Amino acid sequence: MNIIKKAFTRSLLQWNRKQNDRKMPWKAEKDPYKIWLSEIILQQTRVEQGVNYYESFIKHFPTVQQLASAKTEKVFKLWEGLGYYQRCKNLLNTASVIAKEHNGIFPNTYEGLLALKGIGPYTAAAIASFAYNAPHAVLDGNVFRVLARVFGMHTPADTGSGKKIYAALAQELLSPKKPGAYNQAIMDFGATICKPRNPGCTTCVMRSFCTAYAENKVHLLPEKEKKMAVKKRWFYYFIAEQNGAVYLFKRTNSGIWENLYEFFLAETDKPVTLSPKTIKKMLEPLGKNLVVRKWAASPVYTQRLTHRQIEAVFTEVQVTGKINAKGAVAVPREQLNRYAFPRVIREYISTSKPLPNGP
Ligand code: ADE
Repeated sequence: MNIIKKAFTRSLLQWNRKQNDRKMPWKAEKDPYKIWLSEIILQQTRVEQGVNYYESFIKHFPTVQQLASAKTEKVFKLWEGLGYYQRCKNLLNTASVIAKEHNGIFPNTYEGLLALKGIGPYTAAAIASFAYNAPHAVLDGNVFRVLARVFGMHTPADTGSGKKIYAALAQELLSPKKPGAYNQAIMDFGATICKPRNPGCTTCVMRSFCTAYAENKVHLLPEKEKKMAVKKRWFYYFIAEQNGAVYLFKRTNSGIWENLYEFFLAETDKPVTLSPKTIKKMLEPLGKNLVVRKWAASPVYTQRLTHRQIEAVFTEVQVTGKINAKGAVAVPREQLNRYAFPRVIREYISTSKPLPNGP
């Protein structure tokens, strides 16, 4: 191995021993269940946000068996606000597979872990190295950034061939004696020193051999190949109220919000001017002969997702007539807190008021 590669691993482990003061509740954890839970939460969530969710999951479900036998609704409610709900579905699925088919014991090899739903190469390497000290290097955004900068790599990491190059380098750099400590250290180093913006180059232990630093290119690396197209979608939600209850629907189509609840939704690809006429038309699938007694629309609420920008308008409507849309659940307004909603709906609920009663 060349000198810089050796210096990299040595400096990283030394930094970890002497200077890394990042504290997280899952650090040095050996229970694969807890490690797994933390890694699934952290797949698309920042550490600061993930900590509370992690602790609440561990409190409610201290073992994988307890998670496996939990009610789906309860688990989704605990996950509410974390986004990327497919993770929650996989979590339940995998907990049940481990409880039923593995006697409640996590597989103890990288390959065995990889075979589970929701566990990709990154998560398998994290669990295998943290729980079993198995020599598998993790590769995530932090690792790509650190390697791209220290080794001056201009290959974008978000392509198949780019990933292979980074994976080979990461595996070569991994400390075979301390893969768990090394993996946690490189993530912590990327998150606290070699940060995307305002990196701590002035005090960095890698400064003397960092290519990007020497070439003044720290801010230019890592390079990205793909620019994501963001499409706007217009969601017109109707909070249809009858006798103090509002109607909810569970999203059953597979997609980002599967299993979450929402109000009656009319989706358009352009903004619509709301009027009694447009509202009546949009409400038709909710009930053929509904009469709208009152209505009031909110300003636009937005939520940015990976490939989408949701522009949501919430319209309170008091209606008379029969609601006959499939799957409609009548819920008293004060019980809305029991349900798990997408973030944008939760935001509306917490800032909204019902229409006043009376004519
Ligand atoms: N991101 C994903 N896994 C992590 C971990 N174990 N520590 C810090 N950040 C992470």
